[in-house]
Amino acid sequence: MPRLGVNIDHVATVRQARRTVEPDPVWAATLAQLGGADAITFHLREDRRHIQDRDARLLKETVQVKLNFECACIPAMLDFAIEVHPTDVLLVPESRQEITTEGGLNVVGKRDDIKIAIQRLHDAGISVSLFVDPDPHQIAASKLVGADSVELHTGAYALAATGNPRAKQLLVFRQACELVLQHELQLHAGHGLTYMNVRAIALTPRLAELNIGHTIVSRALMVGMTQAVREMKALVTTTAE
Ligand code: PXP
Repeated sequence: MPRLGVNIDHVATVRQARRTVEPDPVWAATLAQLGGADAITFHLREDRRHIQDRDARLLKETVQVKLNFECACIPAMLDFAIEVHPTDVLLVPESRQEITTEGGLNVVGKRDDIKIAIQRLHDAGISVSLFVDPDPHQIAASKLVGADSVELHTGAYALAATGNPRAKQLLVFRQACELVLQHELQLHAGHGLTYMNVRAIALTPRLAELNIGHTIVSRALMVGMTQAVREMKALVTTTAE
């Protein structure tokens, strides 16, 4: 059974829409743990569009389960990750134009930089996961540079139309999983998974961790809306004493 890593970035996205203090992703992380999250994952982007440095520090102080710090492989971010000292650092590619992480890391092309980054993180006692496409070359390169885990990008599977196209992507994903395991890397997966498409991925043998964000935050808004309105309605309709 995989661990469920809950990515709380988009709680911060709603907060940053108003640059205010609510909703607090740190509070959401506590609620996620009460719901059974086995890990809390956050992505500190260079442009700080959602998670802020303060969130990372407070998450480190308050999260009681595994903490995954997702970031780009750049020295300033690695310095901060080492200061925060999460359980895992998850290295991802980052571009300012993208709405979300679009593809996996080019480990083959950036082998030297990634190897140095992993060594730094290992020296600090932090495990390293690399976010890669289900591509045999990227998986083999991840082993060579010394990664502990590989998080396979499930975006192509999630975006494929149901039926044959999705079955084809599931096969590509499953073959990549076998390769990850043959290289004796821990197998993680995530991106684009929803309540509708997660089951086939979750049933993958020896999958250690799934990281899921947007769909959980979306669902939380929907299942919490009735209660939130009920509370506001009581405040605005209660007559003065
Ligand atoms: N894994 C990685 C590396 C990601 O960048 C993201 C998105 O922040 C996720 C998993 C979670 O993706 P989603 O929000 O689509 O569930």
